[in-house]
Amino acid sequence: MAFIISALLLSNHASAREVVFPPTSGYATDDQIILGGYNDPDISHAKFGGLNTFANLPYVHCLAKEGEEVEKFDIAILGAPFDTGVTARPGARFGPSGIRRGSQRISPAAGWSIYTGENVLIEWAKIVDCGDAPLTFLDNTAALAQLDKAHKIVSARRTNASDKAVPRIVTLGGDHTTTLSALRSTHDHWGAVSVIHFDSHIDTWDPEVLGGGISHYAGLNHGTFLHIAHEEGLFRNTSIHAGIRAPVIRPKKDVRNDLRCGFEIIKARDIDRFGIQEIIDRLKKRVAGTKVYISVDIDVLDPTFAPATGTAEVGGWSTRELLTILDSLEGLEVVGADVVAPVYDNAGETTVLAAAEVALALIGLMVNKPVFGVM
Ligand SMILES: *[C@@H]1O[C@H](CO)[C@@H](O)[C@H](O)[C@H]1NC(C)=O
Ligand SMILES: *[C@@H]1O[C@H](CO)[C@@H](O)[C@H](O)[C@H]1NC(C)=O
Repeated sequence: MAFIISALLLSNHASAREVVFPPTSGYATDDQIILGGYNDPDISHAKFGGLNTFANLPYVHCLAKEGEEVEKFDIAILGAPFDTGVTARPGARFGPSGIRRGSQRISPAAGWSIYTGENVLIEWAKIVDCGDAPLTFLDNTAALAQLDKAHKIVSARRTNASDKAVPRIVTLGGDHTTTLSALRSTHDHWGAVSVIHFDSHIDTWDPEVLGGGISHYAGLNHGTFLHIAHEEGLFRNTSIHAGIRAPVIRPKKDVRNDLRCGFEIIKARDIDRFGIQEIIDRLKKRVAGTKVYISVDIDVLDPTFAPATGTAEVGGWSTRELLTILDSLEGLEVVGADVVAPVYDNAGETTVLAAAEVALALIGLMVNKPVFGVM
């Protein structure tokens, strides 16, 4: 009996034929289901297939050698796969590819916001994915020099919209040390910016206090990069942190040093005391009239919403709260931005889904406020 059944299956298989579905009311058989129809199926693109770019945007070889023709673009996604500047869990070198994976369901073809009715991916700006900066993973100093160079090259490209503009970059981290290269790059083109820094940690630690006791280069890490950026004069004293809740190392000095670096602090629980609108108002007021760099450490979110992060701190904001705040910053002159998020995600990819949406919000702010003037 068993033999007869498998023989039958085999013969069925041997005579397999194309399945033809009955016509659906209102559609000709030709334009059902497969774009272009069954006879000439469209294989020009697929949302979930192939090599990932952020939000299915076109890839451009932005880091091509001098003299090579490079397509123009207005806003660039640039990955920074670097994670050897962290004090806790490494893994953020897989952040850029993780965020791209988290963005796979986002695409220019279906990008209309239910809140605004806008599709920022197909407005005036040509938005591309430049892939990742090639960074060595055994020497922090060399890797950050590579990242500096990558930012310099990408930001020196011509924009599609205007000859007078500089392309703006949304960096996908990587650990937070990578923001230093991005700030050096915005400083080259726009001068000192105000930083809006979403994070659970202040990241302005004096290198003497965090890491630098061992060697000079160890003093440059994901907890000190803002201190160093301040020393380099890259940002203004109109900067502000949002979502802070992690403990500090020295009871008074760390906060005093933070103030000296040019920051004001919005703490995570301020959202309960004052409400979300007050947070938005404080952020906008603080940076008013200046060019802005927005840096989002995914650990600003509660670990419930972003479990995969280098230094998780409970008691943070929700994804919805963060996205509402980001979208409400519309109108600011955002000249650069990043979201830093690592691996160790759960099976539902909660963290990279959130990070992808944050990156989309940052792109939205850039599209909403074109910035043409440079220094
Ligand atoms: C790039 O610029 C060209 C010429 O100005 C314009 O026609 C085109 O729409 C722009 N591309 C994008 C994607 O905005
Ligand atoms: C920032 O620094 C300038 C001087 O460089 C000073 O006049 C100003 O009061 C400072 N602003 C804030 C908000 O600390």
